[in-house]
Amino acid sequence: MEVLDQLQRPLRDLRISVTDKCNFRCTYCMPAEIFGPDYPFLKRDELLSFEELERVTTLFVEKLGVKKVRITGGEPLMRKNLPELISKLSAIPGVEDIAMTTNGSLLPKYAIELKDAGLKRVSISLDSLHDEIFGNINGKGVTVQTVLDGIDAAAEAGLQVKINMVVKKGMNENEIVPMAKFFREKGHILRFIEFMDVGNTNQWKLDDVYPKKQIIEDINKVMPLEPIAPNYVGEVATRYRYIGTEEEIGLISSVSDAFCSSCNRARLSADGKLYTCLFATKGHDIRTPLRSDLSDEEVSSHLSDLWIRRKDRYSEERSELTINREKVEMSRIGG
Ligand code: GTP
Ligand code: 5AD
Ligand code: SF4
Ligand code: SF4
Repeated sequence: MEVLDQLQRPLRDLRISVTDKCNFRCTYCMPAEIFGPDYPFLKRDELLSFEELERVTTLFVEKLGVKKVRITGGEPLMRKNLPELISKLSAIPGVEDIAMTTNGSLLPKYAIELKDAGLKRVSISLDSLHDEIFGNINGKGVTVQTVLDGIDAAAEAGLQVKINMVVKKGMNENEIVPMAKFFREKGHILRFIEFMDVGNTNQWKLDDVYPKKQIIEDINKVMPLEPIAPNYVGEVATRYRYIGTEEEIGLISSVSDAFCSSCNRARLSADGKLYTCLFATKGHDIRTPLRSDLSDEEVSSHLSDLWIRRKDRYSEERSELTINREKVEMSRIGG
């Protein structure tokens, strides 16, 4: 089953945010001044239940062509009993890949349970190898070792591991080469993400973006690189490897080199809104139809209609947009 949007793009990748809460306050995602003690996070009954998520994911797989599922947040491991949800989703026939994006801090506690539940891969965020820099970025003084312990726990449990590093000028560009060396040695794929203008709270400026081209140049000077082909159509990261080796890195260049033409992703927020772009202003309410007495057929035909109407290509349009439009926060839809 396949449904194409207005730009002939199929849907393959469903990214499910399971909570809008996080135990970090990264400056580029949930700045502490805004996400303070009184911030109105979602309440329990506003969240889609595991049963609702299982049903809607099954429909996405059976009727719309989804093959990959990624669990995000906020910090997904802040959601109670998360391994139970992973078990439900990994048992759906047709789910070929199930991964999670996490800050890593709770992996020592949950990695084995997650693996046993059927999780295949984790992307773990780490932006610096220095406690002072990293503590400032995560807004909570969390140490580098905390995340490294999470990385080790995931690898030991048998999960495939990738590391995500957001690069922002003036914040951590000096950490690019040390991070590359460190994770090359450790044997994990490191992906550099350009600082993006997601949401409206992170004070994004084009000047703060440290572009892909520059990142490659910095690493290439010390450890020569060569480009390699994508693993699959629509892969977000461009891949490079250290010449003469199988050790690779990835670059996610949403700002300097957009990849909307192959974008096959939909995002579901924890309160059941479907976003057809990371930079969307509004989501489409899926929770109401799920909580009404509509049949599976009726719900899936509603989902198909939403995908068919899609024509988002924000990263390609970014430079043409003159007004600053209202956008959903990253912590709501998990990147
Ligand atoms: P693989 O499945 O391993 O290829 O990983 P992935 O790149 O899908 O997953 P991950 O969640 O680790 O993505 C890394 C980051 O890339 C996200 O957190 C976002 O910041 C960014 N990103 C992912 N998808 C998109 C997208 O469709 N558009 C834009 N602009 N950025 C994206
Ligand atoms: N720009 C780029 N990446 C971001 N992330 C969160 N906010 C931003 C932003 N403004 C990254 C996180 C994590 C993933 C969920 O998205 O570091 O790797
Ligand atoms: Fe939390 Fe990840 Fe956002 Fe940092 S980037 S505040 S760890 S959700
Ligand atoms: Fe897809 Fe929107 Fe990202 Fe473009 S900007 S790749 S359409 S999520």
